[in-house]
Amino acid sequence: MSSIPNISENAPHILVLGMGGTIAGLASHPEENPLQYQAGQVGVEALVQHIQSAIPQGLALVSRQLANINSRNLSDAHLTALGLAVKEALLDASVRGIVITHGTDTLEETGLFLQATCGKLAQTQAKRVILTGAMLPSNAPGADGPSNLLDALRWASTAIENCPGGIYAVMDGRGCMAMDLAKRHATALNAPIQNSPSSSVGLINPSWLSGVKAVQAAWNEDLPIPQLDKWPWVEILTSHAGARPETVNQWLKSDVQGLVVAGSGQGGFHDDWAAPLSKAISQSIALVRTSRTGAGTTLPNIPETDPPGCLAAGVLSAPRARIALQLALNAAEEANLAGKPLTWQDFFARIADLPEIR
Ligand code: SIN
Repeated sequence: MSSIPNISENAPHILVLGMGGTIAGLASHPEENPLQYQAGQVGVEALVQHIQSAIPQGLALVSRQLANINSRNLSDAHLTALGLAVKEALLDASVRGIVITHGTDTLEETGLFLQATCGKLAQTQAKRVILTGAMLPSNAPGADGPSNLLDALRWASTAIENCPGGIYAVMDGRGCMAMDLAKRHATALNAPIQNSPSSSVGLINPSWLSGVKAVQAAWNEDLPIPQLDKWPWVEILTSHAGARPETVNQWLKSDVQGLVVAGSGQGGFHDDWAAPLSKAISQSIALVRTSRTGAGTTLPNIPETDPPGCLAAGVLSAPRARIALQLALNAAEEANLAGKPLTWQDFFARIADLPEIR
């Protein structure tokens, strides 16, 4: 851990957790080819030092490196470590807010994970947890990381009227709930946030804020963070033209515990998958349907009647539904061990049924 300015870790501060990503990336020829680079090369302390002169006066920061990876390599273990660090910081009276620097490729998964495991705690502790990243490596001309990090620090530390504690994200001058992030463009500077309901970081949009409050009112209880060896194995299968039953049948021979179908259109899948997916359910493999379109809602029994036990994922994209299903399977197992007769469907529905911010 390191502090800027030099403060005791017991003094009030913002905690900056480093996970890596392009914000910490370095290009070998930044002028000629800034998009050819290695993510996760610069430590979080150096990222903070780099913007030191712009950090608001009196704002004390403590940085902690949890990982320095390209987020396409994000693992269950990384999520457990991040979730536990965030929980600990939320309960630490000296931490006023938390900023997480992260690769943008899987911000979508991490945002949903933190909302589902730490969202209530952040709200009750009245602290903001802000995810941020960058689309250009740290040494590229016009790198967006420094301004994103500054915006995130301001959002985490400033008393923004009415904006409650919670799990948010900031990119390209806009803020959103972290569970709404989804990178839907390969290179645009606003890629992770361009399709998310969001607000300018400078002027909070009242209708967005009322949407945030509706989500928070509906989120009653955080789900447990799976222990390292307890993350259920869940895969995403994309239905497509020419899909073959063998694709599903292969999984029936494995120990997979859940399948998320990224279906076409409204979340339908190829007719040739109907029999093997029914077989998956009969083998107690959890089944969830999403849409591969990238937007809109997957509704129960549309376009066809769902096989018994299969859940439609609502507005959850396939990557988010995968994390939600892992957390739901783990929560159901923990509940059952404690003698509570709850199913993965009970826990999954709590996430999938959250109100949508428009
Ligand atoms: C990553 O996700 O770590 C690389 C891409 C990025 O951060 O934009």
